[in-house]
Amino acid sequence: MSDNDTAWIDLVAPRHLRGLDVYQPGKPVEELEREYGVTGALKVASNENPLGPAPRALAAAHAALASSHLYPDASGFALRTALGARLGVDPAQIILGGGSNELLYQLVTAFCDPDDEVVSHEYAFLSYRLAAQTAARPFVAARATADRRCDVDALIAAFTPRTKLVLLGTPNNPTGSVVTKAEMERIAAALPARALLVIDEAYGEYAAAWPEIDHARGADWLHAPRVMVLRTFSKIYGLAGLRVGYGVGHPALIELAGRVGRTFNVSAVAQAAALAALDDTDHVAKSAALARSAIERLTREVSGPGITVYPSLANFALIETGRPGKPIYEALLRRGVIVRPMAAWGLPTCIRVSVAAAEQMDRVIAALRAVLGPT
Ligand SMILES: Cc1ncc(COP(=O)(O)O)c(C=O)c1O
Repeated sequence: MSDNDTAWIDLVAPRHLRGLDVYQPGKPVEELEREYGVTGALKVASNENPLGPAPRALAAAHAALASSHLYPDASGFALRTALGARLGVDPAQIILGGGSNELLYQLVTAFCDPDDEVVSHEYAFLSYRLAAQTAARPFVAARATADRRCDVDALIAAFTPRTKLVLLGTPNNPTGSVVTKAEMERIAAALPARALLVIDEAYGEYAAAWPEIDHARGADWLHAPRVMVLRTFSKIYGLAGLRVGYGVGHPALIELAGRVGRTFNVSAVAQAAALAALDDTDHVAKSAALARSAIERLTREVSGPGITVYPSLANFALIETGRPGKPIYEALLRRGVIVRPMAAWGLPTCIRVSVAAAEQMDRVIAALRAVLGPT
């Protein structure tokens, strides 16, 4: 963009959108291959499921395509009923979204007055900040701990009477860290009078692969009146491209959130695939086991002096490289491996690496070791 264009945008854009950084997704494989002239590139940058979509979901999606001339069920009845039965909640407690990302934006619009604050911590998922900023709501990032976990004391200290939405990922993206059960209880107990707590469990099914590690579970909060739990079919179910997620909360909150939703936001194919994916327990179990073994390998084979692989209960790990992450990211690109540089997340010396299938993980680890030096 020329300087003229920038000046013009500043003239027409509302104040809260001027200078706002848009979310930078991981580099697509095709783009890397085009730009760097490499083939067979491997992307471990978007926390996707390397095992692909749940097979049952794929079959259901194919079948649903035949009815593509019809609008989807706007109420998502079949999927919400199945989710309700599985979770032990009334379907009126469930809202569907075009990915849980869409629901995050929707919750900010539905629940926050213009001066209400959205609170999280400095290394939380970037969409929390963006959802607040695009709606012109103040975003407050509490300090994190030295090991980049949510600092519960700092988070609670950041609460004010204007705090309206507290957004917490557990496991958190990009750190992979979790909030413990006791920590979540402290946070919920400290919520200011008007505030709601959103537990973002996009990676919750992965955390189940680490049963020995204490972590808060959204399942324990499904009936708490001021808590909403967000989940997605993008991660362990492998349906990121279809865009479907859901939120569980008090029916009154669900109704309010629904007021700002777009009709037909979840396609019929996505609904059918998600419904079938729920029964694909085999795929879920395999995906969780693969993630745990890949994280353990990363920790064992990449950690070393100056290099920390942070403990993660998800399908990715944050790596502190002890030096600028951008050249490391580029060196890995030249080897055909796409990771995620973390400068935009306030972690300029870190990269984030998603898990890959076992053979591909060999390649990822070899590239990391070569670029990061002997460990
Ligand atoms: C913590 C967290 N929450 C929510 C999402 C949104 O996922 P989706 O919109 O695909 O459901 C992501 C995606 O990366 C995430 O990492």
